[in-house]
Amino acid sequence: MTGSSRRSIVGVAVSAVVWLSAVVVTVGQGGAAPAAPPMAEQIFKNVQVLKGIPVNEFMGTMGVFSAALGMSCEDCHDAGDENWAVYAKDNPRKQMARVMITMMATINKTHFRGRQVVTCYTCHRGSARPRATADLAELYGTPPFGDPNAVFEQAVNAPKADEILDKYIQAVGGAQRVAALKSYVAKGMSSGYGPENEPRPLEIYSREGQRTTVVKTTAGDATTTYDGRSGWIAAPFRPVDVLALSPQEVDGLKLEADLAHPAGIKQALTNWRVGLATLIEDREVQVVQGTTARGGTATLYFDSETGLLVRHVRYNDSPVGRISRQTDYSDYREVAGVRIPFKWTDTWLDGRDVVELSEVQPNVTIDAARFNRPAPPKK
Ligand code: HEC
Ligand code: HEC
Repeated sequence: MTGSSRRSIVGVAVSAVVWLSAVVVTVGQGGAAPAAPPMAEQIFKNVQVLKGIPVNEFMGTMGVFSAALGMSCEDCHDAGDENWAVYAKDNPRKQMARVMITMMATINKTHFRGRQVVTCYTCHRGSARPRATADLAELYGTPPFGDPNAVFEQAVNAPKADEILDKYIQAVGGAQRVAALKSYVAKGMSSGYGPENEPRPLEIYSREGQRTTVVKTTAGDATTTYDGRSGWIAAPFRPVDVLALSPQEVDGLKLEADLAHPAGIKQALTNWRVGLATLIEDREVQVVQGTTARGGTATLYFDSETGLLVRHVRYNDSPVGRISRQTDYSDYREVAGVRIPFKWTDTWLDGRDVVELSEVQPNVTIDAARFNRPAPPKK
């Protein structure tokens, strides 16, 4: 092992330590510690470089690789969802990827004062072989539309975030009605992407600061829970039956819960800033960004005319680049005087789900156990 690769590993370990201290602060503020997520090397057999990061973040880095190189898992692994042991086997391409992780970390450390400006995506842009020569056809063609920058600062002529957030609360029903919607239970269907993904029944249990989503797959329930402090995913065919999530991912679940009961939306994030307005499906949107308690980034897109939330993108840090996840909301309907989206599409680096609700029961009593650490999935 070279000195520089050892340094990059230390870099990873340091960020884990920062998170652990964040966890300690939470303990001081109120009650029991959040569930500690297992680290990648505790669960997997052959982790040599990406050590000291939680399992779900490690899996996120695999999504970063797949997206950056335009590959699927099978391109680097002799895969099979049901047998995680085969992922441990090495081959030349996987070893090349390890070399690349170290190279990338060294470039950032040596030339960019440790800022993560070069990632797999910077060079690869969706292909296995980065291009070395300018493409004249591309140079004179229409550039594809894309997100210019994941993280931005307040734009000079943009309105203040408070204005846009106030308008949003007004648009969904006003502060009073929003505050009166204390809980709801929703039912609907969730469809994966691709022909083999049949729609599956879905249930959502939501109350202020807590949220549980259950998708009833043929192989068993896939449950995501945020109890107000910790977050878990319990789903079939995962490397860990009931996985405690990483701090930034827990922050993301908290934000979802906060968006479902948005009375306190202004406290949901800090360091709010508003970027330049942009377009989503030909409609102008205001782009508002904030930072989560543990340093994740979230961007909210509000329709300039209706004031409604149409998109939400979250970016969590990882040693190989940000892990992004996007939700697009539509079909707002009134429930107890509050407009909530009945349809949304969830997109992440290696998958996509479409959710359509069929009924939402407002202000029902939900058994507190619904928000406990979920049980392992069973058929
Ligand atoms: C570009 C190549 C590449 C792609 C694509 C890729 N991986 Fe990996 N994977 C790696 C490398 C490299 C490691 C080892 C990392 C290390 O040693 O720190 C690894 C390790 C793993 C491990 C740990 C195995 C063990 O027991 O040690 C799992 C599980 C895994 N990958 C799953 C996936 C999944 C699921 C996908 C698709 C979403 C995926 N990978 C896509 C390169 C890749
Ligand atoms: C500074 C630019 C740069 C960065 C950053 C970078 N790569 Fe690469 N990568 C390359 C180049 C160039 C090649 C092709 C090398 C060749 O043709 O011999 C390559 C090749 C590869 C290959 C072999 C592809 C094949 O055809 O089998 C893998 C796998 C790979 N990179 C993974 C990664 C991963 C994972 C990351 C992020 C951790 C990453 N790379 C970051 C430049 C980069």
